[in-house]
Amino acid sequence: MPVLTNIGALARCLPSGPQSDIHVIPAAALAWEGERIAWVGSEAELPEHFGGWPREDAGGRLVVPGLVDCHTHLAFAGWRAEEFEQRLLGKSYLEIAAAGGGIASTVEATRAASSDALLARCREHLAAMARLGVTTVEAKSGYGLSEEHEIRLLEIYRALGSGPQRIVPTLLAAHVVPEEFRGRRGKYVELIVETIIPRVAREGLARFCDAFVEDTAFTPDEARRVFEAGKQHGLRPKLHADQLSSGGGAELAAEVGAASADHLERISEEGVRRLAAAGVVAVSLPFASLYLGGMALPARRLLEAGVAVAVATDFNPGTAPSYHLPVAMTLACALQRMTPAEALKGATSIAARAIGLEGEVGSLEEGKSADFAVIDADSVDQWLYHLRANACVRTVARGAELWRAP
Ligand code: NIG
Ligand code: FE
Repeated sequence: MPVLTNIGALARCLPSGPQSDIHVIPAAALAWEGERIAWVGSEAELPEHFGGWPREDAGGRLVVPGLVDCHTHLAFAGWRAEEFEQRLLGKSYLEIAAAGGGIASTVEATRAASSDALLARCREHLAAMARLGVTTVEAKSGYGLSEEHEIRLLEIYRALGSGPQRIVPTLLAAHVVPEEFRGRRGKYVELIVETIIPRVAREGLARFCDAFVEDTAFTPDEARRVFEAGKQHGLRPKLHADQLSSGGGAELAAEVGAASADHLERISEEGVRRLAAAGVVAVSLPFASLYLGGMALPARRLLEAGVAVAVATDFNPGTAPSYHLPVAMTLACALQRMTPAEALKGATSIAARAIGLEGEVGSLEEGKSADFAVIDADSVDQWLYHLRANACVRTVARGAELWRAP
């Protein structure tokens, strides 16, 4: 039951209020008992009965809630560095996919990899994320694309979720139509709806059901069938929407009551209005925008319309080969004109909402999970403006220390 004192500034990031309000307490203290936060406030007001608790010193640094990466494709084999070069030389993401590269090549590599090898890689990535202050990670399947392989990826996430770092699994069987169903896409949708979703639900392997709504992936009608089946089995919808083309993805997210609509670089005006009215969280994925050399999500338009905007990495081997969430937050500022405070709330309490964990993580308040990061900066502005390899010096999840800088 330690008390962290001498905190220069603590950003509570409560879910309430506008996205720009991160509820900063100067000269703060934070106490936790077991996995839960016991008290948070101004150090001068620390109640007397904490006097006997062991003290730890934050050295005047910044404390923020443990970061929540609410959109990753964590489990995959291989990388696709050669496509990076091809795109730089002028080939488009879609041309590369049409030539057998892209998602299909990662599916082949992932199916061929052993479960132990995939597990070991995920563990390495998660440990690196922990060093950056990330305590909760949403993880999608989607590089299996058969009953056997989608289930296998979700089982890997289940195994990874036994430690203090939280893993939130999402079924993304509707990522693309796999090679063996070419010309029979209806049959693949049927497999997802009639077999994969019911089994995933029965075995409790995922909380969300995602679909990539795009010309080259799934139509809104196909995705709607997937979401209806998911909802019947207790899996909440999430969407990859309006990334490469404006295909009514945001409108569909609002219609099906999705927890989040992600990407949205090409969202329509009507899409913005519908997300706001339906209270769907928009998820900004600045690495994907950056690596595809394209447009950024119109964060200011969404925020002004009253849509909450989360920030995540989209970590995957194609369009976002980085799990560095603080850099994604800096990019959300530089590319999309979010303020550092908005980006922080987007990667904490709003990201928690995008994965249905707002009652548990994403903000520093009594009773919530003791998940926090100590950042070597004196303010959120300074942290996200001064781009460094790693400003996080300590990470705690469920009251347990995941990382401390040497
Ligand atoms: O979120 N858009 C679809 N899925 C990933 C890309 C996956 C890949 O290229 O392997 C994304 O950007
Ligand atoms: Fe993605």
